[in-house]
Amino acid sequence: MSSPDSRLLTSPIELRGPSPPRSEHSSSPALTALVAHLPGLACAAALSASGAGIALPWLILIVSGSAALLAWHWRLPLWWRYINLSFLPLLGLAVYLQSGADAINPDWYLAAFMLLAVTSIGAIKTRVPLYLSSPRAADELARRLPASGRLIDLGCGLGGPLARIHRQRPDARLAGIEAAPLNWLISKLRLHASGARADIRLGNLWEVNLSQYDIVYAYLSPAPMARLWDKALLEMKPGSLFISNTFSVSDIDAGFDADEIVEITKPGDLAHARLLIWRMR
Ligand SMILES: C[S@@+](CC[C@H](N)C(=O)[O-])C[C@H]1O[C@@H](n2cnc3c(N)ncnc32)[C@H](O)[C@@H]1O
Repeated sequence: MSSPDSRLLTSPIELRGPSPPRSEHSSSPALTALVAHLPGLACAAALSASGAGIALPWLILIVSGSAALLAWHWRLPLWWRYINLSFLPLLGLAVYLQSGADAINPDWYLAAFMLLAVTSIGAIKTRVPLYLSSPRAADELARRLPASGRLIDLGCGLGGPLARIHRQRPDARLAGIEAAPLNWLISKLRLHASGARADIRLGNLWEVNLSQYDIVYAYLSPAPMARLWDKALLEMKPGSLFISNTFSVSDIDAGFDADEIVEITKPGDLAHARLLIWRMR
């Protein structure tokens, strides 16, 4: 479906200085969750030194239980409580497995870490990991683009949505920006292989000028939505669409309910996905 003309239609992403952060970016929940282990660790160390003879699994339970309680007390998002509850027991399990006859080759841990690092290390700071839009989300985006319209995927991941939109709408002028180098490379190669000359940049979404796009698409996480909404209000042109997969801004700005909500969950999907669509005024 790619037409040679589509190669001429892309104009470069316009960059500007980063927009100022909202306050939620000043705190690091990962660090807070880590610090939540310290009181339990001190307590377990004291118990162990006292010679009370408490078995290791109980000590682990003291640390992980108190870390989860502190995550709750400090009002960290729900998933951090589960992470704190399971982190140390899983670490203990991994160490235990290493002592057996069928110990896992440590290179696998290194490989898993490296893979995670090149695809998602930035998530420690941005709080946006890599997960992928469903084909249905891309179909909805393609359907809403005006003729020869311009669309940007903020945090374009592995380029799946852009490649699919290009197949359906070769007239579209597509752009993506991605902070993780491996994701960016895969995205770039994928779009190139599909014949689309989309503008796929390695960089920070906060530095993109959104004023030139008919559709701005974001599938991120709750963390950046307040700041992104401010940016969209400031920069997007009237009549353009701001489309967020799953994460709302109306939790942040009461009164900014989406103009349209499209359910895109299929039967059997674990997560509840929906597109929230705002028409900018
Ligand atoms: C949930 S994934 C979505 C990927 C793709 N848009 C999709 O829908 O399949 C979010 C992506 O945004 C990227 N990301 C997070 N913060 C970013 C930032 N500040 N600038 C650019 N990319 C970012 C992450 O590396 C990740 O690949």
